[in-house]
Amino acid sequence: MSLHATGQINPLTVDDVRADFLQVLETKVHGKPLVYLDNAASTLKPKSVVQTVSDYYQYQSANIHRGVHTLSEKGTLAYENVRKQVAGFINAKEDREVIYTKGTTDSINLVAKTYGRAFLKKGDEVLISTLEHHSNIVPWQMLCEEVGCVLKVIPVSDQGEINMADLDLLLSEKTKLVSVVHVSNTLGTINDVKTIIQKAHAVNAVVLVDGAQAIAHEKVDVQDLDCDFYAFSAHKIYGPTGVGVLYGKAHLLEAMPPFEGGGDMIDVVTFEKTTYNDIPFKFEAGTPHIAGVIGLGAALGYVEQIGFEWIQNHEMELLAYATEKLEKIEGLKILGPQSNKASVISFIVEGVHPSDLGTLIDHEGVAIRTGHHCTQPLLQRLGVTSTSRASFSIYNTKKEIDIFVAALIKVLEMLR
Ligand code: ALA
Repeated sequence: MSLHATGQINPLTVDDVRADFLQVLETKVHGKPLVYLDNAASTLKPKSVVQTVSDYYQYQSANIHRGVHTLSEKGTLAYENVRKQVAGFINAKEDREVIYTKGTTDSINLVAKTYGRAFLKKGDEVLISTLEHHSNIVPWQMLCEEVGCVLKVIPVSDQGEINMADLDLLLSEKTKLVSVVHVSNTLGTINDVKTIIQKAHAVNAVVLVDGAQAIAHEKVDVQDLDCDFYAFSAHKIYGPTGVGVLYGKAHLLEAMPPFEGGGDMIDVVTFEKTTYNDIPFKFEAGTPHIAGVIGLGAALGYVEQIGFEWIQNHEMELLAYATEKLEKIEGLKILGPQSNKASVISFIVEGVHPSDLGTLIDHEGVAIRTGHHCTQPLLQRLGVTSTSRASFSIYNTKKEIDIFVAALIKVLEMLR
């Protein structure tokens, strides 16, 4: 993205953004230009991120936190500077509240297996919602099996929204931990997590927010939300796969036992006893995903350069345009909320199996996701086993939506 394009002289256009993703966007799929509408699964990576990761491997490549030689020190500095950058990006009070993980799933498992094992006991309740991704269900089920706590689930309406009155009914002094998704990957529902957190804190429960689908689409301010933990993955925000973040309030992280044992997370090791490092290092055992973290820094820098105002305007325009077009297709039903949602459209078509649709539309160059989206209980609640999902990002255009809709109509003619 040129400075000229992002500065005051010319407003940023989608073509400026696309120029940063050109190599992948110019890919041909089955001989057709790629229309990538699977952004909720993973975003494409801008050239600045690819270059940063490649530069690390080409010119630095050394391990961090372990050497006094120049390359190691350079790597350590870059890695720790990204921690500061992440803290600033989500407005954490302190850098040490940012733990690097493998991704959202790993972040949630970390909390379940450390905070959960240490502080939850038989009869305590963990509250999640019907909207959750499997990664925010299964770790809590495993915890409940292990320590005897009880999993409770906030219901959702037919539109996939939480009614706060239902939350009130479930919260009690037994509720010790609430773990909810910020934005639903399947429906795009945006949860009022600030209110959920306030209500959970009123019964002294700690709150984890699964921010995997929110982080690239809106400004997240962990201090304003007052969440105790916030989890996200780099690859959903134009960064590398295999790396993510767990934000946690310092006093909670300090009280929690370590997750995995190994190098870097220790203070002193003897065969008799090991003492542990301070946070954040206590939770980062072994050589980390150094290139991934440095790539995450480039990705966050990229998003900051574009700005959330532009991102939201662009994505909402695409969402409204696509919704209007899809609603005109006979027999097609969009699931989820009608307003206040992220740029995700999940739909079903009478008499058509989503996986047939997904396969045939791929032959038109269009990438969408079909299936249960790792939210089987949510789909059960909505009375379906599978949907087709198109999700939009900063580099998508109305022209691509036209191609998608035309391809969809063609495919449906073949399938019905
Ligand atoms: N959670 C990702 C999705 O929704 C993989 O597709």
